[in-house]
Amino acid sequence: MKAGVAAPGRAQIPERTYRKDRWWGWPLSMGAVLLFFVVYATIRIFMNKYYWAPGEHYLTPIYSPCLSDSCVPGSSHFGTPLPEVPAFLPMAVITFIILAGFRATCYYYRKTYYRSFFLSPAACAVPEPRGKYSGERRFPLILLNSHRYFFYLALIFALVNVYDAVLSFHGKDGGVGMGLGTVIILINVAALSMYTLSCHACRHIMGGKLKSFSDHPIRYRYWQFVSKINPKHGQWAMISLFTVIFTDAYIMSVSAGWITDLRIFN
Ligand code: FES
Repeated sequence: MKAGVAAPGRAQIPERTYRKDRWWGWPLSMGAVLLFFVVYATIRIFMNKYYWAPGEHYLTPIYSPCLSDSCVPGSSHFGTPLPEVPAFLPMAVITFIILAGFRATCYYYRKTYYRSFFLSPAACAVPEPRGKYSGERRFPLILLNSHRYFFYLALIFALVNVYDAVLSFHGKDGGVGMGLGTVIILINVAALSMYTLSCHACRHIMGGKLKSFSDHPIRYRYWQFVSKINPKHGQWAMISLFTVIFTDAYIMSVSAGWITDLRIFN
């Protein structure tokens, strides 16, 4: 028996869609952005260098935290509990699995790549090409329900990024200093924090299970805060994607000696 839009009982419409606007613009452009990020991140992970600027104490978020004996001296802010990794295994792979897992299971990104890559559906009132739909109840899509656990890990990483930002206030001659890189790192930390805190899972953890807000005034306040920023979660998802790339590209350029960090003081 036919399913989906071809199922019996559904109106049989010969046209693919009655939409006359450029409905394909959003999935096409978002798909291009996601592809760019995947290619960029893959190149950076396998590059395995230029992630730490020793003079300025800038560590790129893609390699943070750096926990292996293979990390360049100074870049391991939390020690090196992991042994040296073989040359074929990029150090940033553990970091990337968690960060990519958090984004890949995010509700906003799910909508984005379902539309852009699976055309499921590509846009409202545009039928998807598949006749069957099993939702996220079967393997492999059922794994996307792990989002809450990735959220916990991403929260730890967000705190690590805050610590990295504090360390970036390092003077070239020792002591306290600040450069353009510090500003870029701070903006990235702010964007990542907004993205992480506006997460739907975060909102549910804060107040989703409570039966009575008046018995939990502090959680109610957190829930109110998350509820305020949650409607813009999609925007923070895209903004933070670009701030991560820009921060990494800047630190890579300083670390490689392609540019000199602009110092604000010391
Ligand atoms: Fe997007 Fe949780 S829903 S990060």
